[in-house]
Amino acid sequence: MEHVIGMLLGTEEDWPSAFEGLMRRLDPKIAVGTDKHSFSVERMTIEPFNLRAKPRYSLVIDRLAHWYYNPREWVKKAAIMDGVYLLNNPFTFQSMEKHTAYCAMMRLGLKVPETWMVPQKQPPENERFPYTARKYNRPFRLEDIAHEVGYPLYMKPFDGGAWVGVTRITDDTDLHARYDESGDRLMHLQASLENFDVFARSLSIGPETMVMHFDPDRPMHDRYQVDHEFLTPELGDEVITIGRLVNAFFRWEFNSCETLVKGAEVYPIDYANACPDISLTSLHYYFPWAISALARWSIFCAATQRPMRIDQDIATYNAIADDATLDYEAKLSAYRRLADGYFELERYREFCAEHLSHVDQVMVEFVESDEFDRLIVDTVTSTFPAHEQERFIAHYRGSLAAWARDQRTGVAGPR
Ligand SMILES: Nc1ncnc2c1ncn2[C@@H]1O[C@H](COP(=O)(O)OP(=O)(O)O)[C@@H](O)[C@H]1O
Ligand SMILES: [Mg+2]
Repeated sequence: MEHVIGMLLGTEEDWPSAFEGLMRRLDPKIAVGTDKHSFSVERMTIEPFNLRAKPRYSLVIDRLAHWYYNPREWVKKAAIMDGVYLLNNPFTFQSMEKHTAYCAMMRLGLKVPETWMVPQKQPPENERFPYTARKYNRPFRLEDIAHEVGYPLYMKPFDGGAWVGVTRITDDTDLHARYDESGDRLMHLQASLENFDVFARSLSIGPETMVMHFDPDRPMHDRYQVDHEFLTPELGDEVITIGRLVNAFFRWEFNSCETLVKGAEVYPIDYANACPDISLTSLHYYFPWAISALARWSIFCAATQRPMRIDQDIATYNAIADDATLDYEAKLSAYRRLADGYFELERYREFCAEHLSHVDQVMVEFVESDEFDRLIVDTVTSTFPAHEQERFIAHYRGSLAAWARDQRTGVAGPR
């Protein structure tokens, strides 16, 4: 069976080129039962389509449908009609605003900070609005809600991303000014977690998770710290469980999750990213892991013909949440079992051991190749202004070489 892996892409060039390069070098031929599976990768184009047309793709990595509606409707059609495997589930785009994920995780007992939603400052443009508002909108004092949440707090869009419109607020004057600026965006007010110890950002691809030490105060190229032991094993495991739980719950298989760790507690704050950042310039040292994991999970899903599970299983998760005999730790363990089951963790491990144990080695050789060096140079050239390019080419060459060296000497990042 020849599997075509499709990529629905926006402006990105770096990771797709790396993914194509790795898949070309791997050129996997995998025997499962009596079938022999081979793979090719293709960048998809956007065209008119017949709803009954049969797509050529076994699996599609979608980075576009969260904002572009023609491909969004294509992926939905492909999931329902053709059984195409999708990263990610297009039927929960609506949940990829933060709000739904906050609600789901609160329902499951996770430590999401206290959060309120307030009506938009600028009402929706709709001729029915004045009547509806006069009749049903209750007047409220914004500062009363803020005092209930407590200062400092974060005001942020309910569907946010990339820190747009996110502000930290410390008093009533600030609160009103920021609310006035929020315009027609629907906002949350969320208690700020002050003086946390660590910001852990975990990137998950299928059942693989990389938990990274993130420093939001540093410039973009330096936010992911190369740091292997910044969490105790227990806390690291809790962070992995939270990410995997969110992903299994919503059927997201390519997502990032932000948690703040304070003492022995883990607080999830942002974990619905339909199109997580995996750019070479932000991930640097961790970039080769992400590309390898994407290859492993795509190959596994296609070769085992894993069915796309668009249906959710919310009641099963809620039943664990409602079990009064379980404390927080026991619930997390139960969620973890469900999530590992969803991702077929055991089968995936066995499959990787049998068919894909050479992927890391191939990636190391790729990272050390001229082809990869050109990718670094091209990416830096298209990302940074001319006067910074030389410095950043050296910087990225250094961190990618460090990754390759660590693989050769057996120092792997947390998995
Ligand atoms: N409750 C909070 N406590 C502390 N810091 C927060 C909180 N909410 C957001 N932040 C800070 O603001 C940043 C952006 O907020 P986030 O919810 O991640 O929005 P976005 O989706 O735009 O990334 C976070 O990375 C974090 O640094
Ligand atoms: Mg965030």
